[in-house]
Amino acid sequence: MRLRHTAVVITGAGGGIGRAIALAFAREGANLVCADLGESAAGVAEEAARAGVKALAETADVTKPEDMARMARRALDELGRLDVLVTCAGTGASGLFAEQDEAAWLRVIDVNLNGTSRAIRACLPAMLERRAGRIVTISSIFGKTGGSGYVTAYAASKHGVLGLTRALAAELGSQGYPGITVNAVCPGYVRAGMGVALQSTKAGPVPGEEIFDRYYRRQVPLRRMIEADEIAGAVVFLALPESGGITGQALNVDGGFFMS
Ligand SMILES: NC(=O)c1ccc[n+]([C@@H]2O[C@H](COP(=O)([O-])OP(=O)(O)OC[C@H]3O[C@@H](n4cnc5c(N)ncnc54)[C@H](O)[C@@H]3O)[C@@H](O)[C@H]2O)c1
Repeated sequence: MRLRHTAVVITGAGGGIGRAIALAFAREGANLVCADLGESAAGVAEEAARAGVKALAETADVTKPEDMARMARRALDELGRLDVLVTCAGTGASGLFAEQDEAAWLRVIDVNLNGTSRAIRACLPAMLERRAGRIVTISSIFGKTGGSGYVTAYAASKHGVLGLTRALAAELGSQGYPGITVNAVCPGYVRAGMGVALQSTKAGPVPGEEIFDRYYRRQVPLRRMIEADEIAGAVVFLALPESGGITGQALNVDGGFFMS
């Protein structure tokens, strides 16, 4: 219960990793705004509330600035504050770069990169006012490397998320806001959400676990996929008082796959 009475906003909270993050914060006593498309976050908010915290489900599309503004307002109006933002909403595109139409590229960039920026833009004013806050973006190991193919738009967007994270951390620190930290978590192959969804290969769509076995397991020192709870643990750590000296970092939680 190290985050009792704090308020955490999570985009993409209805997904595999988002759910684990919401439940981990709830176990620490934090109140939550669980945001996602449609009714996707309703079940997660219900589950989180069983830990005895306030957990609000919010329908919010990260491609819509007005949804992001409403999400932030909900935290301030109903939870009385906004301490932590986790930007977990994300999407991918199938197929090879040369075969993709521009719309697929634009959609991935708009959700993953612009969506991260929109969520931060909506939540940052409350943090600036209190001169305190924690922003944790969810990038990916493909924010640092190109994978083994079929991830061009996704990797471009996740590299962009790291650029935003680092530059904003530098800007806030040097503009007199050392109480606001901005860090990224870079998951490797996670046994949840997109990590187990169908993914493109030359022979057609294949479940994520099989992709991991075929192309990645031998490159990962721990020789296993990561659990969603392990991502959530890293995100919660970056919101705790003892991590206040960490900003502008991109923490890999990937079984040692990418050591940089
Ligand atoms: N699972 C993995 O192996 C893995 C690895 C690296 C990074 N990630 C990242 O972790 C995050 C969560 O992914 P996940 O694996 O839980 O997948 P997921 O598909 O289960 O979760 C993604 C969530 O984002 C939501 N979302 C999509 N478009 C949105 C939009 N426009 N507005 C609001 N919400 C939207 C979806 O509804 C979904 O609930 C993503 O950013 C993803 O890129 C996942």
